[in-house]
Amino acid sequence: MTSVTNVMLHTALQIDPAELDGLVPERYADYRAIVADGLSFFLQRLSAGRLGEILAAQAGLPAGASASRRLIPLLHACPALHKLGQVIARNAHLDPMLRRQLQRLETMPSQTPAGQVRPILERELGRHMRRYRIRIAERHLAEASVAVIVPMTWSDRADPPGAPRRHAVAKLLKPGVTERLEEDLEILGRLSDYLEERQAAYGLPDLDYHQIFDEVAELLTHEVRFEHEQSHLRAAAKQFSGRTDVQVPALLPFSTSTLTAMERVYGKKVTDTHSLTASRRTGLFHAMVRALLSQVVLSRDPSVLFHGDPHAGNLFATRDGRLAILDWSLAGRLTTADREALSQIIVGGLRMDARAVARAVRNLTGRGTREVTIRTHVDEAMGQLRGLALPGPTWAMRLLDALALSGARFAPRLLLFRKAFFTLEGVLADVCPECSLEGALIGDVLAALVREWPSRLLRPPLSRDYATHVSSGDLLRIVASAPTALLRRWRPIHSHSESMFFP
Ligand SMILES: Nc1ncnc2c1ncn2[C@@H]1O[C@H](COP(=O)(O)OP(=O)(O)OP(=O)(O)O)[C@@H](O)[C@H]1O
Ligand SMILES: [Mg+2]
Repeated sequence: MTSVTNVMLHTALQIDPAELDGLVPERYADYRAIVADGLSFFLQRLSAGRLGEILAAQAGLPAGASASRRLIPLLHACPALHKLGQVIARNAHLDPMLRRQLQRLETMPSQTPAGQVRPILERELGRHMRRYRIRIAERHLAEASVAVIVPMTWSDRADPPGAPRRHAVAKLLKPGVTERLEEDLEILGRLSDYLEERQAAYGLPDLDYHQIFDEVAELLTHEVRFEHEQSHLRAAAKQFSGRTDVQVPALLPFSTSTLTAMERVYGKKVTDTHSLTASRRTGLFHAMVRALLSQVVLSRDPSVLFHGDPHAGNLFATRDGRLAILDWSLAGRLTTADREALSQIIVGGLRMDARAVARAVRNLTGRGTREVTIRTHVDEAMGQLRGLALPGPTWAMRLLDALALSGARFAPRLLLFRKAFFTLEGVLADVCPECSLEGALIGDVLAALVREWPSRLLRPPLSRDYATHVSSGDLLRIVASAPTALLRRWRPIHSHSESMFFP
């Protein structure tokens, strides 16, 4: 580690660099130098005022505070890093103590002074205050990376006399967060150039770091644009209207372009449900899989939204037994072609047909992706199917993940879906450790196949216009190729260097 890094980390965070190394697990040991240098690069370029605030927060911590404890106020002070902390907080490979600390970033008690927020709130609500008889609570409910949440009660003129007041929250940006996010992103942009120049020295894969950064930055700026969240909330409310096990907070008429007023949800993080019975937690697990994954992929409706940020602070188990899905600032839509390609990867896997899997992968990746990258990873994924592993949705997502890490290009919506999938995978494992995500997804696919069976009699055999996106011809081919596929799964591997699956 460079001496500048040492000095920066030691003075700014009072973290012993050796302790920082301990934060990055052995499995990712090759990345330790990058993490330390990246953090130092970031801190060195932060404006003096913000660095001063970070130092003051560090000084307020107990002298013996661990490195992981010291990291949290630093991440909380930098919205882009705060988001990163939330995404890795459920990664099973991290040290359990670090994970526990990072999980605090998912939802936090508010540290924003009420005196700074109230005048903004009253100004924004303006004439609505009287019209809806709004009363604002003294204390904030919570905050996370960009927003602060304030409880309110209100009533409508149409409410009958004596009706109980309605409970709501106002979500507004923490004062100064837009500027902080802009500064974070500007520095991270420079960091991506720095990494690109030194990728060989750091032993990093040959990726277009700047382009990846631009895409992530574009998504992060959505976090502070409330018009996105409000239109997503409306669409999600419609999407889940038939589901009695899911709550999406209703958007209220006194929302403005910088304030989202919505129904208040009563509950707790889905991961803080140790007091629930095993069967309630299993129910919650399945509701999450269906609402956030199966319903997104197993759909013929291109308008179906997926939640782009399903960390545990955005998923609540409500007091009345539902799954509440909060914070719709980041959301996306898959295309029908994406869904078809995803199912074709699995169909190809079931038939042990590497060429079919590669063809489907090619339909998801951009033109710049090298053929050899696709072949290598498809070959490796097919190799994993030897023995008992089944080519289910998590197998397909791992293949796409490996491809992305090797430089394959994916559209931003697919990168967001991949990030959401892996965030959710970690949360699900904490909600119900004994439940299987792959099993739940395969169960949902089979249920969809059964539901669409009668309509297969009326459609041409090659039509993929089904929720599963699998044609009757595909199904026949899976059955017809079963004996060969089984043989290929158990054929001994002769050589590691030659491709087993591509002629
Ligand atoms: N409608 C609601 N009812 C009750 N609590 C809510 C509601 N919306 C948000 N919260 C609470 O406030 C926290 C922060 O809200 P939200 O997630 O919308 O903010 P954020 O800063 O955009 O979060 P993130 O860091 O995930 O982007 C939530 O984790 C939750 O605890
Ligand atoms: Mg949130």
